[in-house]
Amino acid sequence: MATERTFSILKPDATRRNLTGAVNAVIEKAGLRIVGQRRIKMSRQQAETFYEVHKERPFFGELVEFMTSGPVVVQVLEGENAVAKYREVMGATNPAQAAEGTIRKLFAESVGENTVHGSDSAENAQIEIAQFFQDADIAG
Ligand code: PPS
Repeated sequence: MATERTFSILKPDATRRNLTGAVNAVIEKAGLRIVGQRRIKMSRQQAETFYEVHKERPFFGELVEFMTSGPVVVQVLEGENAVAKYREVMGATNPAQAAEGTIRKLFAESVGENTVHGSDSAENAQIEIAQFFQDADIAG
């Protein structure tokens, strides 16, 4: 399996609790390299576009509200099988169902405020990375 990239967001519940370093330590320990990283305040427009696929779901408004409620850290992660690897490292969407040692089991407070986002496919990773990063801001 060739080296792959995935897109990650450390969500507002992570930045609010000063957990950027703690979450990054789990990411790096799993063998993923943080090859791009920026701390931003997402605009409503950015959040609505990013989560457009979920716009018919009942929690869409709440999700956009939450993602714009404070700073987030957007990241590009690189490694062997990075998309699947990061999904494994994040743990289940609902922290109550997340496996021991995963980021969501360690840090997440609820299904809504679940600390991290990771792309669900290599194709979506490319689309999501392009929404937040220029090529010049990624160094592998
Ligand atoms: S997944 O990972 O796409 O299979 O998960 P899914 O359950 O489809 O959830 C998609 C994103 O919506 C968020 N979510 C919620 N936000 C607020 N309230 C509720 N109840 C809720 N349920 C799910 C979930 O955290 C996913 O966000 P991302 O950023 O994609 O991980």
